[in-house]
Amino acid sequence: MAPSLSKLCLLALSLVFGTALGEPWKAIDADFADPSIIKTGDGYYAFATNSHGVNTQIAHSADFKTWKVLDGQDALPGPLPSWVNGSHSQIWAPDVIQRNDGIFVLYYSAATSGPKSKHCIGAATSSSVIGPYSPEKDVLACDKSKGGAIDAAGFKDDDGTYYVVYKVDGNSLNQGSNYHPTPIMLQKLKSDAVTPDGDAVQLIDRSDADGPLVEAPSLVKSGGQYYLSFSSNWYNTLKYDVSYAVASAVTGPYTKVLAPDAPLLVSGDGSNVGPLGGPGGSDFREDGSAIAFHAFNNGKDMGKGRGMWVANIKIGGGRISIE
Ligand SMILES: *[C@@H]1O[C@H](CO)[C@@H](O)[C@H](O)[C@H]1NC(C)=O
Repeated sequence: MAPSLSKLCLLALSLVFGTALGEPWKAIDADFADPSIIKTGDGYYAFATNSHGVNTQIAHSADFKTWKVLDGQDALPGPLPSWVNGSHSQIWAPDVIQRNDGIFVLYYSAATSGPKSKHCIGAATSSSVIGPYSPEKDVLACDKSKGGAIDAAGFKDDDGTYYVVYKVDGNSLNQGSNYHPTPIMLQKLKSDAVTPDGDAVQLIDRSDADGPLVEAPSLVKSGGQYYLSFSSNWYNTLKYDVSYAVASAVTGPYTKVLAPDAPLLVSGDGSNVGPLGGPGGSDFREDGSAIAFHAFNNGKDMGKGRGMWVANIKIGGGRISIE
């Protein structure tokens, strides 16, 4: 039988864009780590960890394919709240959601002021997606005695409840291979999406299969199930990856998906610019149809920083695949 017209169309498209079918494509060839993405009335925006002299980097795309970093523009320029070390703020892994009233909320982690600094999580709001975001005075999650809290990602459930997922940064306490827990937590929020509502609950933790840690959570709901993506192993090695767990209630229990359906991305997987190195730090598009993640720009280590890749995904039946 001859190939279908739609298959031929897809093939033609893939030739035009220079990508094979089903492969992530490189969106940003610069240091743009721990990306998060959001769809707005004005195309797509991405946010990333501090680099190039700004606290929170921003990029824009009209079509999700071609991306441009808004050079020098900072979504979170400060002044930062007093719990943050203002001269050494180290803003990591920002994530933006839009509230029902149109206000944008940015979750971030920052180095605390004072001795024995750890990272903790704060929230900030803006009427414009690119900011400047005004930080809330109080810290949102800290867990300082357990190593701090990082990698926040907002989530709006289909009943309208807001949550933030984050990682307790237990590995910041590690000495050698004496591994501490690095639980991924779910914190319910009030309708302002910045004030905690009750205590955080644990969704997953590291196991020996994850090496020293799990981190970089992102949550999406599809087909009545909750999908929690996360990364395992050290971020600066080729073992870093994108994996996921599935639950039928937002609070869990979450089951980590195993091979061959997971990890979703590992070093050596193909992309339009060659094999990925150290893929991780992924974020779901809210509609569950795509992800953004970072990987080594040089394919092998941190030498040229971590750029952003995007990929279309298919979610269903408790599984995620790259499309
Ligand atoms: C901020 O961080 C720097 C560098 O680690 C440190 O020297 C300084 O004491 C810190 N400041 C405060 C207020 O914690």
